Amino acid sequence: MSLLLEPYTLRHLTLPNRIAVSPMCQYSAVDGLANDWHLVHLGSRAVGGAGLVFTEATAVTAEGRITAQDLGLWDDAQIPPLQRITRFITAQGAVPGIQLAHAGRKASTHRPWLGKHGSVKPEDGGWVPVGPSRIAFDPQHTAPQELTQAQIDEVIQAFVEAARRALKAGFKVVEVHAAHGYLLHQFLSPLSNQRRDDYGSNFENRIRLTLQVSEAVRAVWPDELPVFVRVSATDWVEDGWNPDETVALAKRLRALGVDLIDVSSGGTSVHAEIPTGPGYQTQFAARVREESGIATGTVGMITEPAQAEHILRTAQADIIFLARELLRDPYWPLHADDDLGGYKAVWPAQYQRATSREQPIHESDLRE
Ligand SMILES: Cc1cc2nc3c(=O)[nH]c(=O)nc-3n(C[C@H](O)[C@H](O)[C@H](O)COP(=O)(O)O)c2cc1C
Repeated sequence: MSLLLEPYTLRHLTLPNRIAVSPMCQYSAVDGLANDWHLVHLGSRAVGGAGLVFTEATAVTAEGRITAQDLGLWDDAQIPPLQRITRFITAQGAVPGIQLAHAGRKASTHRPWLGKHGSVKPEDGGWVPVGPSRIAFDPQHTAPQELTQAQIDEVIQAFVEAARRALKAGFKVVEVHAAHGYLLHQFLSPLSNQRRDDYGSNFENRIRLTLQVSEAVRAVWPDELPVFVRVSATDWVEDGWNPDETVALAKRLRALGVDLIDVSSGGTSVHAEIPTGPGYQTQFAARVREESGIATGTVGMITEPAQAEHILRTAQADIIFLARELLRDPYWPLHADDDLGGYKAVWPAQYQRATSREQPIHESDLRE
């Protein structure tokens, strides 16, 4: 019996299996509104059998977008097109999840496929980003304006309002994005946070905003539904955010009612040397799970069903997040089911005659 294809329950929500579509920016929205691209992109992965389908990083304020083409949820008008998507995902038997994010000093950039690194300047349609301290991500990025206490309060409120809208839009899992060098991670890491107030200088102060946002989101998210937080376990830079701090943060998040830590890494520093390779981040998910006693998700170069199954069987994580492999093959979960001999995932009725290459089929059946 394969664990990967087994249902998994958090609070009162049961995922049909342990495969999640990892959040992936599509840079294809206008004014933060989801459109046909998002419906087909996310819908295809639900048809392909993923149990949990996450949207891309969805900005809680307009200035919190990585690019002007990001999805957003800072306005009620952004709810209906997302509702259309959650309805479709749910109809496929999958669970819709949303990642809520603020890009902080990494906001206002170009779409990656344009090949232009760094900030889009205000005169070119961009904006001046905000962050914990006036430290640019790198020389090609604009230095952010330092957030005041009042602006920090507004950021927390923006996460709350976006979570309320996400619920109205039909999402069942909300994930707070505190990884990859975006705003919350910028506060966590001493590389980007050099504040001297209640939000900087020591561990307790650096984790304050992530705790406040997570607690506030938890407070408006229904008790029966889970809240995830994505973290970078390490900056991969000496004197940066590190795995010990991640474990300590995970304990605190667990105490606030967060249900799962989605463990990634990196994103704050261009000097990071990341030893990428198959499953290179699973060690961090395993450590957080073991030492904090909270469920974890793992992500990063997981491409084979047997590899995913092994991670679950060795209790390193509870959910497997896949990103690029699901771009290559939206039907990966259905194929994994065949590979692992689970035969639990159900091909859509419309596709069922294609599920087996061996199955004899009467030629006349193909002539309608
Ligand atoms: C096109 C693309 C967009 C991404 N956008 C996001 C995002 O919106 N939020 C996030 O947390 N990670 C994002 N990531 C990172 C992935 O979720 C994942 O952590 C990373 O790609 C490693 O997993 P993989 O090896 O399965 O691709 C993105 C990755 C890709 C390839």
